[in-house]
Amino acid sequence: MGYGVVGQSFGQIITQRKKELAKKYGFRPRIVGIVDKKGAAINPKGLDLEQMLVLKKEKGTVSASTQYGYPKMSALETIESVEAEAIAEVSPTNIEDGEPGLSFIKTAFRTGKHVVTTNKGPLALALPALTELANYNKVYLRFSGTVGAGTPVLEFAKNCLQGDRIVSIRGILNGTTNYILSEMDEKHISYDEALAAAQKLGFAEADPTMDVDGYDAAAKLVIMANWIMDRKVTIKDVKINGIRNVSAQDIEDASNRGRIIKLIGSIGETLKVEPTQISKHDPLAVDGALNAVTFVSESAGEQTIIGLGAGGIETASAVLRDLLDIKQNMSKKMIT
Ligand SMILES: NC(=O)c1ccc[n+]([C@@H]2O[C@H](COP(=O)([O-])OP(=O)(O)OC[C@H]3O[C@@H](n4cnc5c(N)ncnc54)[C@H](OP(=O)(O)O)[C@@H]3O)[C@@H](O)[C@H]2O)c1
Repeated sequence: MGYGVVGQSFGQIITQRKKELAKKYGFRPRIVGIVDKKGAAINPKGLDLEQMLVLKKEKGTVSASTQYGYPKMSALETIESVEAEAIAEVSPTNIEDGEPGLSFIKTAFRTGKHVVTTNKGPLALALPALTELANYNKVYLRFSGTVGAGTPVLEFAKNCLQGDRIVSIRGILNGTTNYILSEMDEKHISYDEALAAAQKLGFAEADPTMDVDGYDAAAKLVIMANWIMDRKVTIKDVKINGIRNVSAQDIEDASNRGRIIKLIGSIGETLKVEPTQISKHDPLAVDGALNAVTFVSESAGEQTIIGLGAGGIETASAVLRDLLDIKQNMSKKMIT
C-alpha cells in the first residue's frame, strides 16, 4: 500500500537480493499487488518488480500497466479482494486521524493479513488498540521502520535486551531537528537560517511542523513506550515542546558551558519531548541528521544505538526485516 520512496526502495532490495534472500532465509516473496493514489496493479502469480519500477517512473502510476493495471482501484478494495499473506503499509504519515494508513491496517487485519508498516500516524494514535486487534485476528503487526528507519532501535531493545528491565529511554528521534540544532551550534546561525538551509537540502519539508514542533519525535516515543515498555499510551500522553523557540543565544550560552541543546524525547515516569541541554560528551550528542537512543536497563546498564533515522533504502530494509520476522514466527506458529 503506497509505492513512493520506501515502497520502491523495498521493490529494489528484494529484486537485487532475490537469490540471497531465497538461499539464506527461504524467503521468496511474491508481490501480488501494488497500489498508489491512482490505482493498483494486481497479478496473483506475482508482479514483475523491475517492470513496475519503470512503469511508476515513466507513467506515474503502476495502474498504467496494460496487462495488470486497475486504474482507480483503491487500496481498500485491493486489500479486500486480493489474496495475500501480508501487506507492507507505506502510505504517508498523518497524525491527525491516522488515515489512510489506519483503515488499511484495520482492513488487512479483518481480512487475515499480517501488516508491516513504516507509518507512524496510525500507531501514534492507536497502537494499544491496533495491537489488540492484531491479536484478536491472529495476525502480526510489525513496525520497526517507524523508529530510526533502518537503525534497529526497537529490535535492539526488544530482542537484545531480552530478560532485562528497561527503566528509562532518552533519544534523539528526529533527524531534521537535530540537523537544524547542529547547524545553529556549528555555524552560529539563527533558527530561521538553519531551517531554510535544511529545507534547501531536502532535510526539512516545506511545512516543517511535524518535525520542528516535536510531533514526529513524540510519535516515535509513543511507539517505543508501547512496544518496549508495555505502556498503553498514545500521543495525547506526551508533553511536547518543539525547537521553534530555541535561540542562537540559548545555543551559545549552552556551548560556553560545554553543553549542547538537543531535542530529546524521554520515557521515564512521564513521556516528554523537549529541547534539553546535554554534555557535548554525552553519547546522544550526535551531529547532523543522525538519530541516537540511550536505553537504561536494570542489569545491563546504559547502551546507546546510533544510526541514520531516514532514507528510502534504510527504511525499506526495516520492512524486509519485519517480513522475515513474521515469516520466522509463522513457522513457529505463535502470535506475539
Ligand atoms: N522516506 C523515509 O525516509 C521514511 C523513513 C521512515 C518512515 N517513513 C514513513 O514511511 C511512509 C512512506 O514514506 P515515503 O517516503 O515512501 O512516502 P512517499 O514517497 O510520499 O510515498 C507515499 C506513497 O503512498 C501513496 N499513497 C498516498 N495516499 C494513498 C492512498 N490513499 N491509497 C494508496 N496509496 C496512497 C502515494 O501514491 P502516489 O505515488 O500516487 O503519490 C505514494 O506512492 C510514510 O508514512 C513515512 O512517514 C519514511
